Amino acid sequence: MIGVFDSGVGGLSIWREIARQLPGHSTLYVADQAHVPYGARPLEEVRHFCEGITRFLLEQGADVIVVACNTASAAALHHLRTVFPDVPFVGMEPAVKPAAQNTSTGVVGVIATPATFQGELFASLLDRFAGGVEVLTQVCPGLVDAIERGAVSAPETREILQSCLQTLLEASIDQLVLGCTHFPFVQHLIEEIVGQEVEVVDPAPAVARQTGRVLVEMGQGGEQGQTGRHLFYTTGDPTAFTTLLEQLIGVRQQAKRLTWREGELVV
Ligand code: DGL
Repeated sequence: MIGVFDSGVGGLSIWREIARQLPGHSTLYVADQAHVPYGARPLEEVRHFCEGITRFLLEQGADVIVVACNTASAAALHHLRTVFPDVPFVGMEPAVKPAAQNTSTGVVGVIATPATFQGELFASLLDRFAGGVEVLTQVCPGLVDAIERGAVSAPETREILQSCLQTLLEASIDQLVLGCTHFPFVQHLIEEIVGQEVEVVDPAPAVARQTGRVLVEMGQGGEQGQTGRHLFYTTGDPTAFTTLLEQLIGVRQQAKRLTWREGELVV
């Protein structure tokens, strides 16, 4: 079973791609909406939440864990791999590498949360892949909250995007990396604002492919014709999450409640 988690609905953009590419596999998704957004929290605190969620997913039988959140990956991936050395994790990192390879203007934009830019992971990405290319970073205050409310086409969401993309457009970017898993849900607005000259890079397909490779390496490639079963948990309001599941990814299923108790998740 594939465990997938995020601070909220963002990881559903990854889940959707995993379910499409790996239909024979069962999944369990955890949205830590009691603590969303993670992006403005200290890395240490996010690390603590990620450890609790990982323990829960392992108890439920996860064979592989997809950290479907750039912020959580930046804050905790290294820590999780140290604490759970036998567990295969698939993490997220902003897709600076393909953007740097494909740019013609030599200027690439990345939108993500403040915590994602703070982590060592981002610094190392720049070191490894951004040689000769200017990488401009930009946070989008309020955008994660708007998407959590389901306001994916609202005028106020468009305004947030317009103001955060302005500087990047003025700097002549031709590649825009979505460095937060919430952002693919407003990709239609982003594309309207940046126009056809700018390529918008969503890492979800690559993350799903990587998850498939990890499963094959584990000898769990899946049988043809099998259909996976899916469970969705939230530490927030299950009714609101159920509505968002249908609105954002067209899945009609009742989400279940999870509760934090002394650093542990209980059903
Ligand atoms: N979806 C998340 C990410 O990819 C985090 C949003 C947040 O909780 O701030 O960074």
